[in-house]
Amino acid sequence: LLEHLNDTVKPEVGEIPAYVLADPKVYDLEHKKVFMKTWIFIGHESEIPNKNDYMLRDLAGYSIIVSRNADSSIKAFYNMCTHRGMKLCRADKGNKSAFVCPYHGFNFKNNGDLIGVPLQKNIYGEELDKSTMGLTEVRIESYKGLLFGTWNDEAESLDDFLGDFKWYLDILVGRAEMEVLGAPQRFVIHSNWKIGADNFVGDSYHTMVTHGSIAKLGMVPSATYSKMGYQIHSENGHGLNLGTPNPDFAFPEELIEEYKSNLSSEQFEVLSNLKNMIGNIFPHLSFLISHTKVKGQLISNTTVRLWRPIDHDKMEVIAWFLVEKNAPEDWKRRSRESFVLTFSPSGIFEQDDTEVFTDITAAAKGPMPVMKNLTYNYTMGLHRKPVDFIGPGVAYDDKFSEANQRNFYKYWLELMNS
Ligand code: FES
Ligand code: FE
Repeated sequence: LLEHLNDTVKPEVGEIPAYVLADPKVYDLEHKKVFMKTWIFIGHESEIPNKNDYMLRDLAGYSIIVSRNADSSIKAFYNMCTHRGMKLCRADKGNKSAFVCPYHGFNFKNNGDLIGVPLQKNIYGEELDKSTMGLTEVRIESYKGLLFGTWNDEAESLDDFLGDFKWYLDILVGRAEMEVLGAPQRFVIHSNWKIGADNFVGDSYHTMVTHGSIAKLGMVPSATYSKMGYQIHSENGHGLNLGTPNPDFAFPEELIEEYKSNLSSEQFEVLSNLKNMIGNIFPHLSFLISHTKVKGQLISNTTVRLWRPIDHDKMEVIAWFLVEKNAPEDWKRRSRESFVLTFSPSGIFEQDDTEVFTDITAAAKGPMPVMKNLTYNYTMGLHRKPVDFIGPGVAYDDKFSEANQRNFYKYWLELMNS
């Protein structure tokens, strides 16, 4: 399979074979080489703001408990009791200083220690050494509130993995104190996960067609659909499209001082001129700042979303809505409204996109004699040279290019070979 992949996946010349979206064997190898090796988004720190808050999350197909301890630090554990392996915690989220196993009642403190065993002295005598039976800790790190986990003890630090791309993530989630409002919205669609990542990492080209109806409704400025702006990517497959310029500041004016104190002057300049910002942190954490007109006023909304693979042709979309914690309550409410109207299971953009994602996946599962030779065309912008930009990375001076998708697949292939 690897030999075949290396022969047919050619991002440098803009050729990606269709079978990479539909072959279960590719999916199995991805799980091993990509999802078990790299940093995977698990949530935002503000989802568990108080001591002893916890949430259950998925890390590459395995359940983990992410918990804020009595000392306010956040730890994560494999969600498995060390006695006989029962799934220790089964609620999505809550507040608990300790977890009692539903099978025999072993009791684990939220720092992972086994602290109680029913009838211990009576049935085990003095023999049971509880100190060797703590929960298995999972490696997690955070950047500006974004929590990531990995099963790979040898993975580089999250900081190194994000590299230059942090400059843009500062604008996304470091511009102010941010909080997640509401539980993340989750829905399952019949799509390969890479289509979502591919779409967000660099595909602004589809907006004027797929989402054409929204401009006609006047919900977004029609300029959103122009190609004006920048396409930027950095190492490790990360990339984004920056829509710019924008004459209207779509963020709360009250927070300008907070933005200025958190961002460099160059970053603040990007924020001030932002029309939208759409990107993907490799492998599958996409993000978006988009502006929508709500009752005549242009309002930004910020979302991060995971294309969590369930199978080669199925994924769960998990969408978090983020907002400036210190924004006026009314502004927060309207921002959330603009998120729900656009990117959520009931959002218009979301419905436009997911229909495309599922149809591409279905077609990629076509008959083998045909599929054998079918490749997607990723040559857009191959002839162009990067330009200077005030932020880091390789930048192109408009958004209609497939350089970011080529960069995504280049790193994907590198990991598949690792
Ligand atoms: Fe958890 Fe037995 S499996 S106490
Ligand atoms: Fe879209």
